[in-house]
Amino acid sequence: MMHKRLEKRKKAGVNLAVFASGNGSNFSAIVRASRQGRIKVSSLILVCDNPEGFVLERARKAGVRVILASRRDFSSRRDFEAAIIQRLRYYKINLIALAGFMRMLSPGFVKKYRHRIINIHPSLLPAFKGADAIKDALVHKASFTGVTVHFVDEEMDHGPVIMQKRIMIGSGEGLASLEKRIHRLEHRMYPQVIRSLCGRKVKPGKGRC
Ligand code: GRF
Repeated sequence: MMHKRLEKRKKAGVNLAVFASGNGSNFSAIVRASRQGRIKVSSLILVCDNPEGFVLERARKAGVRVILASRRDFSSRRDFEAAIIQRLRYYKINLIALAGFMRMLSPGFVKKYRHRIINIHPSLLPAFKGADAIKDALVHKASFTGVTVHFVDEEMDHGPVIMQKRIMIGSGEGLASLEKRIHRLEHRMYPQVIRSLCGRKVKPGKGRC
């Protein structure tokens, strides 16, 4: 039988923080899924480290609360992360979804939220880690690539895989086309994973919300 507190949380929904630095199309897909009731989110915040990120505009339009923490405003990574953690605690965040967050989280941060931080990456990890994963698949003339959602650990683009889906690369397919297809897949997959994590009966602190 599920623990009473877990049952209550599941009913109430997850307190979700999306971390993003740039465009924010995955952020928007998560907001859409939550507004349409496909994922049960009782509170949603955006954590952004880039004052120029288009994702800020998306959040403003969607009426989502923003925590803007620019690394330049802090003298150390420790202080930068401490400020974020303070806000996460304030909002009782129990799941963090990295969606194009262009910054490595420290081992200390990862430890505090172990199994509660997930990341989406546009390749079939461990293939094509890093910021140019889609382009790299084309450069290496791969016949397929895909999307991975995984728990975050101390290494970049690394940690237990939650879901992977493959996409075939058409012969002569260009970057714009492949990017478009990968992003479309990401926008379906990320809300699906969030929903499955929040509905799972697992032990406290082990990958549930
Ligand atoms: C996505 O391709 C995601 O897989 C990667 O960064 C990109 C973010 O895109 N981690 P967007 O900002 O959500 O549009």
